[in-house]
Amino acid sequence: MAMYLTPEEQEMLDGKRGPLTQKCMKVLVTLGEIYGAKRMVKVKNVHFPGVSYRVAGDAGLEYVCDASEQGSFCVPSTLNTIGIDCFDMESLQFDKDFCNGQLKLNEAYEKMGAIPTYTCTPYVVGGCPGFGEHVAWGESSAIIFVNSVIGARTNREGGPTALAAAVCGCVPEYGFHLDENRRATHLVQVDYPLKTNRDFAVMGYYVGKKVGNKVPCFTGITERPVVEQYKLLGAALASSGGIALYHVEGFTPEAPTKEAVLKEKYETVYFGKDEYAEVEKFFTLKEPADLVVIGCPHCTINEVVEIAKLVEGKHVKIDTWVCLSHQVYALAERMGYVKTLVDAGVTFVRDTCPILCPTSPKGYRGVATNSGKLAHYIRGLWNMDSELVQLEDCVKTALGEEV
Ligand code: F3S
Repeated sequence: MAMYLTPEEQEMLDGKRGPLTQKCMKVLVTLGEIYGAKRMVKVKNVHFPGVSYRVAGDAGLEYVCDASEQGSFCVPSTLNTIGIDCFDMESLQFDKDFCNGQLKLNEAYEKMGAIPTYTCTPYVVGGCPGFGEHVAWGESSAIIFVNSVIGARTNREGGPTALAAAVCGCVPEYGFHLDENRRATHLVQVDYPLKTNRDFAVMGYYVGKKVGNKVPCFTGITERPVVEQYKLLGAALASSGGIALYHVEGFTPEAPTKEAVLKEKYETVYFGKDEYAEVEKFFTLKEPADLVVIGCPHCTINEVVEIAKLVEGKHVKIDTWVCLSHQVYALAERMGYVKTLVDAGVTFVRDTCPILCPTSPKGYRGVATNSGKLAHYIRGLWNMDSELVQLEDCVKTALGEEV
């Protein structure tokens, strides 16, 4: 059955708003027909994935440059992590051609009106929608955060569909835009005293593997998680599995009780100390780490402050990267923490990260990180060993102190 389009949407499809809008509306209508959507819903904002030139490549660059000659975005649109630190192209030895490609891509997006956030945590730098709002977001760790913690509604958008949504201001109503698909398919019985942020990453990694790409609801969590815990939980769930939405009974906005979100039929997953130990054992290094990476997803200011307090007056013994947005960096600089970290020998990686920049760290054997997502991808993409430890232990490892 054909989708219902409003007169305005029909005009877009008929080409009365220009060729770019027509092309974008065709993309959205085709998508809607594939997924059986009945109509479009207006989106409040868009977060673009695939903004790193490493991901976009020349084909993506050409696509966005071409679009930027023809039109602009009609809703606020933020940009995900890119492939370079625009403020420092020397430290990580980015290739010149790669830098040029990335800068052209940035320019094209910005010409269309995109907000140059360049981060996977747009929700902490001003690009946060409200509860129940429809949005079009890409980047797995960001999607799961807005869907779950904020209660906004997005499917997993790719670059072309995000661009179409930003130009037309709408997306087809299917998937996580609909109430029925936001209900939990799995109940995760948590029987572990979650204390550190790392505990949330470990649990996320375990549950992601068990639940795949379905919707879990956690029960048994007794204290309200903080933003950093939600961030690490979601990133791990989205990388070991393909989860885009979770609920935490009593804390996330759609789950005042587990009964409010559970489907009639659901499966139960148990997470206790044996399950915790299983992940802990998996992410153990055979040799000591020779690189520490903190900030996947990008660090919040709270995390930067925590690192600064731990390294103050000391000096790291191995390479240590702190990944963050330029907005959080500016805040840290103003508070004096950038100097503390630089004096301690820490390398800031602004607006990019080890997965999206072109210079995968060469010659390192093993990485210590507080991120389940990074620990996972380092093994697959770099073929290196990784361990998943809490932030404090990442810093101790960096300083050569006993963990
Ligand atoms: Fe962000 Fe890069 Fe991790 S985009 S979530 S820091 S892999």
